[in-house]
Amino acid sequence: MNVVVGVGGGIAAYKAAELARALGERGCAVNTVMTRSAQEFVRPLTFAALTGRKVITDLFADRSADEVLASSVEHIRVARENQLLIVAPATADLLARFANGLADDFLTTLYLAFSGPVLIAPAMNAQMWNHPATQANLALLKARGVEVVEPGSGPLACGEVGAGRLAEPGLIAERALALLAPARRDFEGETVLITAGPTQEALDPVRFISNRSSGKMGYALAEDAARRGARVVLVSGPVNLAAPAGVEIVHVRSAADMRNAVLEQLTAATMVIKSAAVADYYLENAPPQKMKKAAMRMSIELSPTPDILAEVGRIKGDRLLIGFAAETQNLAAEARRKLETKNADMIVGNLVSQEGVGLESDMNEVILVRRGADPLALPKATKRQIATQILDEALRLRLALHAVTRS
Ligand SMILES: Cc1cc2nc3c(=O)[nH]c(=O)nc-3n(C[C@H](O)[C@H](O)[C@H](O)COP(=O)(O)O)c2cc1C
Repeated sequence: MNVVVGVGGGIAAYKAAELARALGERGCAVNTVMTRSAQEFVRPLTFAALTGRKVITDLFADRSADEVLASSVEHIRVARENQLLIVAPATADLLARFANGLADDFLTTLYLAFSGPVLIAPAMNAQMWNHPATQANLALLKARGVEVVEPGSGPLACGEVGAGRLAEPGLIAERALALLAPARRDFEGETVLITAGPTQEALDPVRFISNRSSGKMGYALAEDAARRGARVVLVSGPVNLAAPAGVEIVHVRSAADMRNAVLEQLTAATMVIKSAAVADYYLENAPPQKMKKAAMRMSIELSPTPDILAEVGRIKGDRLLIGFAAETQNLAAEARRKLETKNADMIVGNLVSQEGVGLESDMNEVILVRRGADPLALPKATKRQIATQILDEALRLRLALHAVTRS
């Protein structure tokens, strides 16, 4: 598999070297294109040594007219000979030039000449990332089908803390390989209803109770199901993630909103996956005005939120119902109890007390507690990989349990 890694001029350029190596280890032939600015951060020699290939650094390299005629124009040749273009780090400047169709160096000219899938991994200072110009350019590129590996949040090289860190090279490589793999269409004909993210329960007009769910697991499930041919309806609590391509999204805030949206969408669904971390309690009759601070203790009486999983379990008919259980102890027993009491077909249990997996992480480690089968432990993997395995298992379970009769 031939891929191009386009390197932009940002501090994270050195991580592109790790990406090139990760792609090489996964069997890709890696061709590197560096912008002029990228070469201020890392020397082309690094990439040449890691990939064993010449690095392209200039649109007008030292070549005679005869050579150009003999080997065709290089950016067109590179566009034809590679199956995927990955840009990492994608600078704010590259996003702007791609979005506006500029072609003033090799990488931007290649981008326009390239007809295959494009994967970009932006990295920049948080202010630059959040700037409306950058976000507008990104939205335009997404709308044109460019795949984006979102940057992570954390301490940035500029000393600030926020969104803008280049995603981990291993994660970018994995996304690249997923794009290259021919998609299985084994979810064609299914309508998968997925819930994701936290809910927010208002305490007053400005405050709420919520949890640390990022929504990444549910979004990964939605993306994979859509890629495999399903119609996907994603009912999402407030999260900081872009809607996956080809997915119908319904935005909600509270558990009550989520319940209403799920019940509204249920009729068409053949499979329901409830990965949202729905709040367990809410404040009935939240005050219409902001609560005032006073120098005394206060207590708030909370009421239980609707149990959406149990409600769907009662009326699910032939639909396959998958729930999630986030626990800090007794995971398998709790997941089994939930499976029975909620009439689910599978519970995906994860221990949220572990460092580096679960709620806010890109990684997860889960146990699948299935109706009529032994529990299946899935070792630590990215949420995308876990999503694929959950969907594989859902199809297997569907065959084992019953043939679907759709209404
Ligand atoms: C020290 C330094 C670090 C920079 N880091 C970034 C960065 O992380 N992301 C970014 O978008 N631009 C960054 N820039 C600005 C880009 O280098 C600049 O916009 C340049 O024109 C990008 O060129 P390119 O898009 O052709 O690679 C940085 C500049 C300097 C001097």
